[in-house]
Amino acid sequence: MNNPVIACHGLMRSYTDGAATIEVLRHMDLEVNAGEMVAIVGSSGSGKSTFLHLLGGLDRPTSGRVLINGKNIYDLGEVDKCKLRNESLGFVYQFHHLLPEFSAVENVGMPLLIRGENPTFIRDKAEHLLKQVGLEQRLEHRLGQLSGGERQRVAIARALVAEPLCVLADEPTGNLDPQNAERVLQLFFDLQAARKTSVVMVTHDTNIARRAGRVMRIEGGRLINVS
Ligand SMILES: Nc1ncnc2c1ncn2[C@@H]1O[C@H](COP(=O)(O)OP(=O)(O)OP(=O)(O)O)[C@@H](O)[C@H]1O
Ligand SMILES: [Mg+2]
Repeated sequence: MNNPVIACHGLMRSYTDGAATIEVLRHMDLEVNAGEMVAIVGSSGSGKSTFLHLLGGLDRPTSGRVLINGKNIYDLGEVDKCKLRNESLGFVYQFHHLLPEFSAVENVGMPLLIRGENPTFIRDKAEHLLKQVGLEQRLEHRLGQLSGGERQRVAIARALVAEPLCVLADEPTGNLDPQNAERVLQLFFDLQAARKTSVVMVTHDTNIARRAGRVMRIEGGRLINVS
């Protein structure tokens, strides 16, 4: 049987502040298979972003494991961890981590540049994705010149450019009007159908959550199956 694309077992994360310890995530278990779309919901401060960071290897759990394609990401050294992330995951995070001095097309091509791909291939691929998110008129704009929703869409294009096994997206449609939100969601569905890309997506929008195959709520530091 195939491994889940991404999984966590007994995942815990607490923060210590002086004498007080806050247990944000108490015990999380999740397995996401190829082609699955999982929506994560929960109130503000419940730990959704913390959870997504842990799944992406960007934090360190207090205890528990995160497996990406069967490999425990927190057992790897920094170089192997970055390689696994670059090869397997696409990130759309709340604070986009885009490079303001670079153009939209350069930002989107960055993951492929890191992989050492050919410049023409990178350019074509980045342009194609920017068109798919409706930014064909903004290819050469510097990030600093784009609106919040436009940056959000650049972040989405960048997350998808290297054809990841799994996309981890923190409110990917949060800044978007309904038409652009629909476009992004459709892009996820297309990738799911064409390449069995998995998506783990945090959302506050119940209409969007409802369209994912599975909905989980974070409550009291635990993951609860909603549907
Ligand atoms: N570095 C940190 N040190 C201490 N506490 C932290 C730290 N990072 C996050 N927290 C706490 O962990 C909790 C969960 O934060 P998180 O950002 O995961 O929430 P969230 O569910 O994504 O909320 P939102 O919907 O507002 O984005 C919060 O109460 C926050 O204060
Ligand atoms: Mg958050």
